[in-house]
Amino acid sequence: MDLKTNFSLKEYNSFGIDVNASHFCAIHSEDQLKEILKKISQPIFVLGGGSNLLLTKDLNATVLYNQIKGIERVAENEKTILIKVGGGVVWDDCVSWAVAHSYAGIENLSLIPGSVGAAPIQNIGAYGVEVKDVFISLDAIDLNTGKKVSFKKEDCGFAYRNSVFKNQYKGQFFISYVYLELQKEAKLNLAYGAIKEKLAEQKISEPTIKDVSDTVKAIRRMKLPDPAELGNSGSFFKNPVISEEEFQRLASEFSDLKYYAQEDGNYKIPAGWLIEECGWKGKRIGNTGSYAKQALVIVNYGDASGEEVEQHALNVKKSVYAKFGILLEAEVNIL
Ligand code: EPU
Repeated sequence: MDLKTNFSLKEYNSFGIDVNASHFCAIHSEDQLKEILKKISQPIFVLGGGSNLLLTKDLNATVLYNQIKGIERVAENEKTILIKVGGGVVWDDCVSWAVAHSYAGIENLSLIPGSVGAAPIQNIGAYGVEVKDVFISLDAIDLNTGKKVSFKKEDCGFAYRNSVFKNQYKGQFFISYVYLELQKEAKLNLAYGAIKEKLAEQKISEPTIKDVSDTVKAIRRMKLPDPAELGNSGSFFKNPVISEEEFQRLASEFSDLKYYAQEDGNYKIPAGWLIEECGWKGKRIGNTGSYAKQALVIVNYGDASGEEVEQHALNVKKSVYAKFGILLEAEVNIL
């Protein structure tokens, strides 16, 4: 087994934070993982694309880097296709594969950084679609017993940027394969305003799956920094959901309050707006700061330490609480 010691994670997290893992091992198959689990013990940390992670200190743990690859057709009928995707496949490679084969369902999730195995953990989402909408099941290896377990959709407790893998099962499973159901007849989700506008701009009235994917990519490239150029983890915070009562209080005080009414009567408030209103948008403090085109994103301008980024996030959180009485919750996993 290729177990490395004192291994730098700088190239393995999209924030580009330079910390070391005491042990590191790339995992290429379930069998290899089962063998390794017989030889190592906790603490174990499973790493995917490292794109939803803020590392604030060296990890005294064995990092298992998910490199299980492959996209396989498992079943199909006239309308749908079921695919089995390795947890170590780059999420956007899976999207590109689906788009190239004209299978619909994940084109709105184009260009989201990270791996397929990590996608269900926080139920990744963008432009009106979440991974739960196409998710059927996943295979996982229990890190404590080495046993393989299957989770069906209803076992996963999917919610907005949330699942059982972020809560009661946090750190317990290595997600080896994810099964997704895609549509052969495109049912495109064009509800998101920016997609509609961009398609209209290009005079595309009957978009293909590829048109939607290209449009999403263009929107993302306009608003979100490329981690290869500027370290970041996408949205740093979740959009907070508040009650009707709290919403009324805020709406009476802030006439330009931005919000999305939820089906359950609550209101989701764009955290980017709250942060911008507090004056953070485009503000740089040392090596870190809030991104100029999207205040919800925190960036590393070069040599930021994880602690520096965490401190900035804390300052943002404090000022949003002071102004709006809303406590932001981090979307990224802070270690
Ligand atoms: N806004 C501002 N200022 C900002 C940013 C946003 O006022 O600096 C307001 C605007 O009113 C804008 C609204 O927020 O219309 C929504 O902004 P945007 O469309 O950029 O979406 P978001 O709510 O900030 C969420 C996801 C993104 C996802 C987009 C598109 C979360 C935490 N983030 O961001 O996901 O790409 O919607 O669907 O839900 C991620 O999770 O890492 C991520 C990038």
